[in-house]
Amino acid sequence: MKILVIGSGGREHALAWALHRDGENEILVNPGNPGTAAFAENITGDPVEIAVTEAVDLVVVGPEAPLVDGIAGKLSKISIPCFGPTSDCAKLEGSKWFAKEVMKSAGVPTAEGKKFTDAKTAIDYMGPYPEKFVIKADGLAAGKGVYLPTTKKESDMILVDLFKGSLGTAGASVVIEQRLQGREVSVLAVCNGTDAVVLLPSRDHKRAFDGDMGPNTGGMGAVCPPSDIPIDFAEEVRERVVLPVLREMMERGMEFRGVLYAGLMLTEFGSFVLEFNVRFGDPETQAVLPMVESDLADLFLKAANGEELPPVVNREGASACVILASGGYPGDYHKGYVITGADDTESLVFHAGTALNTDGDLVTAGGRVIGVTAFSSDIDEAIDKAYESANKIQFSGRHMRTDIGRTV
Ligand code: AMP
Ligand code: GLY
Repeated sequence: MKILVIGSGGREHALAWALHRDGENEILVNPGNPGTAAFAENITGDPVEIAVTEAVDLVVVGPEAPLVDGIAGKLSKISIPCFGPTSDCAKLEGSKWFAKEVMKSAGVPTAEGKKFTDAKTAIDYMGPYPEKFVIKADGLAAGKGVYLPTTKKESDMILVDLFKGSLGTAGASVVIEQRLQGREVSVLAVCNGTDAVVLLPSRDHKRAFDGDMGPNTGGMGAVCPPSDIPIDFAEEVRERVVLPVLREMMERGMEFRGVLYAGLMLTEFGSFVLEFNVRFGDPETQAVLPMVESDLADLFLKAANGEELPPVVNREGASACVILASGGYPGDYHKGYVITGADDTESLVFHAGTALNTDGDLVTAGGRVIGVTAFSSDIDEAIDKAYESANKIQFSGRHMRTDIGRTV
C-alpha cells in the first residue's frame, strides 16, 4: 500500500514507523521530520493535492487541526480512504460541550458540567469553591484550555480573561465541570463507524517536572499498559464508552471512522471520561503502537472504509516512552542545539522537534525534541531500558523527567 501520513511530530514518526514496519508499504509523510526521512519520503505541500498526485491508497491523519478543518470530507469526495473522522465527528474534540452532550445522551459516565457564555454567570455558579471545579474553554486550544484553579481570585481571573478573548474564539463559551480525583488512563479505539477495536491502555505524564510538578506540557512520557490498570480495562471502555458514543453519533447522522481517544479518570466511584480526542495521543502513540503486532495498515484501511475490523494482536509485556525536551519547555526555549547519540541506542527513537542545519547536523527545533521507546516483558525493565537509551542522547539544555511510569 502507498500511505500518506499527515503531521511532523513524534506521534507521526511512530505512525509512519508502525505502518512501514513489515517493509511492504510505501510511506509518504507530509511534512514529516528528519526521523521519518530515514525510511519514508517527506513531502511538503497541500495534503489533498499530494494524495491525488501520488495516488495514495490511504491517508492517515496525525493532528486534530486538519480533521477539524475537514480533510476527511475532502478526501471522501475524491474517493481516497482517510483514517480520521469528518469535521462533524471531530467536534467530539473540537467542542467540549458537544462531547458532553453526546456522552449524556449515550449514557457515558462523565463529570457533571454546565456551559457558560459570560463571566458573571460563570463566577456566580462557581461561588467560593474553585477547587471543586474545572474550567474548560469549549473550543480547541492546543492543550491550553483546561484550568484547575486553587483560589477564587485565580478562577475569577481565568473566567474574565477567557471571555475577554485570552484564547480567542476557543474561549467564547466555557464548560465548568465537577473536579474528579483519581488515576488517569487513556484508551485508543480504532473505529469504523459502527464498531471498534481497542489498543492497550496507556498513561501519559503531562506535567513538566518529576512528581507531577510544574506546568502542563503536551506530554513528557508514557507507559503502555500502566501496571495498575486491569488487563480487560480497554475492552470495558469499548463497551461502556466507545460503542455507545458511536451509536449516538450514528443517530445524529455522523459515522465516526478513525481513532477515538478516551481520556478517563478512575475514581472511587468508577471510571469517568474527562475528554475525547479524535486522533492518536502524543506521546501515547509512541508507547502504544510498538506493542501492536498485527497489521496496522490493514486495520486503518478497513476502518477508513467502514469494513469489518480484524482483531488487534499485541505483544506481551509493556513499553515506556521517555521524552527529551528543550530546557524551558513548555515556556520559551532555544532551538538549534546539536543532538548527539540519536543513532546509538537499541531503543526506538522517535523524532519530534528536530531539524537538520546547513551543515547536515541534527539539531533541536521544538519543545519536545525526541521520544525514546523501549519494551520488555516487565514494565520496570522497559522503563530502565528507555532511560538507559535516553541518556545516550545529548543536547544542550536537555530536559527529561526521571519518573516516567514510576508515578501515577
Ligand atoms: P482534558 O484536556 O479535558 O483532558 O484536560 C486536561 C487535564 O485536566 C486532564 O488530563 C486532567 O488531568 C485534568 N482534568 C480534566 N477534567 C478534569 C476533571 N473533571 N476533574 C479533574 N481533573 C480534570
Ligand atoms: N498526550 C495527550 C494528547 O495527545 O492529547
